[in-house]
Amino acid sequence: MANRRELDRRLLGRVLEPSPVVLVTSIYRGQPNMMTAAWLTTLGNDPARLGLAIMPGRLTHEFISRSEAFGLSVMSLDQLDAVHRCGTVSGRDEDKFATTGLLGMDATEIEAPLIEQGVAWVECGLVSRFSVSDHDLFVGEVLAVSAIDELFSDRWRIQEGSELIHHIAGAEYTGLGKPYTVRLNPEDDEE
Ligand SMILES: Cc1cc2nc3c(=O)[nH]c(=O)nc-3n(C[C@H](O)[C@H](O)[C@H](O)COP(=O)(O)O)c2cc1C
Repeated sequence: MANRRELDRRLLGRVLEPSPVVLVTSIYRGQPNMMTAAWLTTLGNDPARLGLAIMPGRLTHEFISRSEAFGLSVMSLDQLDAVHRCGTVSGRDEDKFATTGLLGMDATEIEAPLIEQGVAWVECGLVSRFSVSDHDLFVGEVLAVSAIDELFSDRWRIQEGSELIHHIAGAEYTGLGKPYTVRLNPEDDEE
């Protein structure tokens, strides 16, 4: 068996690498902002809810707490530079729409914009916020979900050049990679 090595518990987020990286959008008093986030998870289907961990002090934390709504834009690797910048600079210090060239577009259920260059979008109302650790858990009620038709039917149809972004560490990222299908009974029809 390969050698197993104990890790610092703070590496949990990297080990679980939980989801594609998204841009979280919010707006307060007419000022939109976006931030990169990797720590998010689906919490349930009915009602559809998700959890997002945000550190206090982020402008996004303040805007979502005040406006009680947020958007998620799932991004693909062709927007990697902009996505990384949105995760390293605060909206307190610069207008990230102006510096990255990412464009806001109207959402259907919330005031915050979504990001036009995204490949899928989720609109959420804030249900609750818990202090759980050095990050707070924001629970969002999903109000609308949409995706680019060619890339998502009832699942991702990943094409080269449109892979979702996954975070490894620091400035290192990867794509979703090759999909594999498990067929326990060879005679089963393909789903
Ligand atoms: C790949 C990546 C993932 C990140 N994920 C999160 C996250 O899940 N939660 C969080 O609070 N910050 C996360 N950050 C850090 C914020 O995006 C960063 O602090 C950002 O500058 C906050 O912007 P704001 O102050 O405009 O809200 C991440 C950064 C990167 C680069």
